[in-house]
Amino acid sequence: MSATPQLRQLVEADLPLAMDLKLLAGWNQTEADWRRFLWLCPEGCFVAAVEGRDCGTAVATIFDGKVGWIAMILVHPDLRRRGVGTALMGACIEFLRGRGISSIKLDATPAGKPVYELLGFVDEYQLERRQGTGRAYAQGTVTTLTPSDLGPVLALDREVCGVGRGNLLRRIAEENPSMARVCRSASGDLRGYAMVRPGSSAWHVAPCVATAADAGAQLLRATLAGCLDEPVLLDLVLENPDAAALADELGFTFQRPFTRMYLGENPWPGRPELVYATSGPEKG
Ligand SMILES: CC(C)(COP(=O)(O)OP(=O)(O)OC[C@H]1O[C@@H](n2cnc3c(N)ncnc32)[C@H](O)[C@@H]1OP(=O)(O)O)[C@@H](O)C(=O)NCCC(=O)NCCS
Repeated sequence: MSATPQLRQLVEADLPLAMDLKLLAGWNQTEADWRRFLWLCPEGCFVAAVEGRDCGTAVATIFDGKVGWIAMILVHPDLRRRGVGTALMGACIEFLRGRGISSIKLDATPAGKPVYELLGFVDEYQLERRQGTGRAYAQGTVTTLTPSDLGPVLALDREVCGVGRGNLLRRIAEENPSMARVCRSASGDLRGYAMVRPGSSAWHVAPCVATAADAGAQLLRATLAGCLDEPVLLDLVLENPDAAALADELGFTFQRPFTRMYLGENPWPGRPELVYATSGPEKG
């Protein structure tokens, strides 16, 4: 049965609705995550209503003025298969195209993938959500990120993501400063960085990037040591076999798949082979 969803901008007063919908989907976001989405791009955040009932959310943002990212496509279970998800995607795509964006990306759940395929999104590569537990590992050469690390971290992130995400990474690091880490060589060159944010049911390593497998291993171990005995999630990219091997070694088990998809062009693919954990499906 089709419906004609009404769309409007999502505002702070909608956070209880947003939290209810993500809880119904069994997702891990907190209110702080939603506030960050609003802070990044308030005009790209939408609520859908059917017959006066608020029942769906979507958030879109723009990285570097080049790539649009869509996430948090959530529809209340009672109102699925009525075109609400498609309408929310339509609002995000229209918003992004209106800002001149020709490359739009997302990480699709198996539930979302058929919706996006019908809209013309195609697969880029596969990801896996892995679940594990914090353990007492040695810190290696990993240290807490300091303001002087931010320049090199943002430069490496731009290389790996293909576009700059300075506003996102700065904000994640500011929200949980003791959980943002870097790994450097003996001569002080940056070899990688890792950040972790709290979720409603688990810590989420997001992101972890390293120029070599041993640096990725040190960063993930130091991160896990900071989440002692607590549940931890990470989303790894299958383009980086070292990340999957490391997750296996650290006892992280498969939870669910995601598919990185894009609509339109993909001129900034970045270097996914250096990703040990993405920044989550919320922002890729
Ligand atoms: C994914 C989700 C947002 C889809 O919302 P929705 O409002 O049901 O989607 P639509 O009604 O617009 O679906 C459009 C078309 O996509 C396809 N589709 C949607 N859900 C599908 C499913 N579960 N299985 C197969 N095809 C599906 C169908 O072709 C559908 O058209 P039809 O109902 O006329 O056959 C919703 O299922 C949901 O909230 N799931 C949980 C959260 C989630 O995984 N979100 C995606 C994050 S990437």
